[in-house]
Amino acid sequence: MSYLGIDVGTGGTRALVMDSSGNVIASASSEHQDFASPKPGWAEQDPRDWWRACGVAVRQALQSAKLDAKEISCVGFSGQMHGAVLLDSSDEVVRPALIWCDQRSDPQSRELEQMFGRDALIRLTCNPPLTNFTLTKFLWVRENEPQNWARVAHVMLPKDYVRFRLTGERAIDMADASGTLLLDVSNRRWSAEVLNKTGIKESLLPALFESPQVCGKISAAGAEATGLKAGTPVVAGAGDQAAGAVGMGIARAGAVSATIGTSGVVFASTDRPAMDPQGRLHTFCHAIPGRWHVMGVTQAAGLSLRWYRDHFGGASPGVQKKDGRDPYDVFAEEASTAPTASEGAFWVPYLMGERTPHLDPKARAALIGLTASHTRAHVIRAIMEGVAFSLKDTFTIFDEMKIPVTSIRLGGGGARSPLWRQIQADVYGREVEIVAAEEGAAYGAAILAGVGAGAWSSVEQACDAVVRVAKRIQPNAKDSATMQLAYTTYRKIYAALKFAAA
Ligand code: XUL
Repeated sequence: MSYLGIDVGTGGTRALVMDSSGNVIASASSEHQDFASPKPGWAEQDPRDWWRACGVAVRQALQSAKLDAKEISCVGFSGQMHGAVLLDSSDEVVRPALIWCDQRSDPQSRELEQMFGRDALIRLTCNPPLTNFTLTKFLWVRENEPQNWARVAHVMLPKDYVRFRLTGERAIDMADASGTLLLDVSNRRWSAEVLNKTGIKESLLPALFESPQVCGKISAAGAEATGLKAGTPVVAGAGDQAAGAVGMGIARAGAVSATIGTSGVVFASTDRPAMDPQGRLHTFCHAIPGRWHVMGVTQAAGLSLRWYRDHFGGASPGVQKKDGRDPYDVFAEEASTAPTASEGAFWVPYLMGERTPHLDPKARAALIGLTASHTRAHVIRAIMEGVAFSLKDTFTIFDEMKIPVTSIRLGGGGARSPLWRQIQADVYGREVEIVAAEEGAAYGAAILAGVGAGAWSSVEQACDAVVRVAKRIQPNAKDSATMQLAYTTYRKIYAALKFAAA
């Protein structure tokens, strides 16, 4: 028996085949060709490009797994969260999707705050209004493009569009639905009050399922486009953060992950919907029935280093080497020659505004504290440290909220770099763990498919069976003490910078 996980990311779609012992048999990705930012702060993608990429990735994964499609017993999904996909009554895309990092809906976010009152909205949905959340994107389209909104017959999130093309079913899981601001997260149902007051018809929304629940079957058209077998069951899956957490075994209270991908997320599983009264963390349903999670989000985590690579990385002699090395390995090698805390250089990573802890779409990034003796090595190291300081802000809020943290598992690019692992251990001041199969959200999606197919009786049991810790990294006492001091300085920078964004 094998299970397929499909992750509809921002940069590309990945398909991963897992066997019933949790081994990854094959995976394949196809880059998305479409990403547009027609105005500052806008971010759009064409959903049809995700569907194209899904077809390529699934076919390639099946081919390299050397599997007959009938050996795939179930398919699971994960995907970039929050994006607004709008379809007309013929199921055609009405306009490009406004994706998770699109910041244009600040006015709509403020309108919601006025309409409900911030505390009331937190009571109804567990979260305050934010530009990232899907409802604010719907309202932007309704107010600014009434001709487009008038054509909208169905709305869905990115992975759910791909599921729709594969199965014909309009479905969504609780975890991804939590990021719409339309879900009553505590009771795991659409919020009638938010729908009524905002005038969004429930008939526009997909049906709600728990993540490991079967919600459809591959259709004949879906089979033709991907090489999968028609009739193969499909589970609801989860937004990429909850699916990624499942893939790292973040199932029970106390288990926490710190993932540095494009964005950075510190994620804790909880037994109840734990709410930050200030709304600095997201309180969402977990991909596990009866469980919730809290997470803090750094908008530009890996993106900080990528931005540096794209705009300044070319000046690095290492990067110019024609030895085929990954530029990020070259950066890490260079950065490791600079001392801990970068001799007073700091990076604050607010390239795309910031969510945790500031909830400020207008926040700006900065590199400060430079002297003539600082080098590129210091700057790269300061970027890696600044991203870790930003993730530490979530741990600081966890402490305030008394969210238990018994173990920390690292994920994403930040888990692959030995230097970034050590920086994180030192900045968090705790042991951090690396799991054996650090395969991201597609792996979690495949685990959810396995649970849906009955291979395991629950997501917790599946995590216990397949997720193994491969390495533990201890903080270095002296470096960690230096980092704690540097963090107190880091915490003061945002307030000092606010003028730049005014
Ligand atoms: C989570 C979030 C991002 C996207 C990108 O709230 O916005 O992690 O899901 O993948």
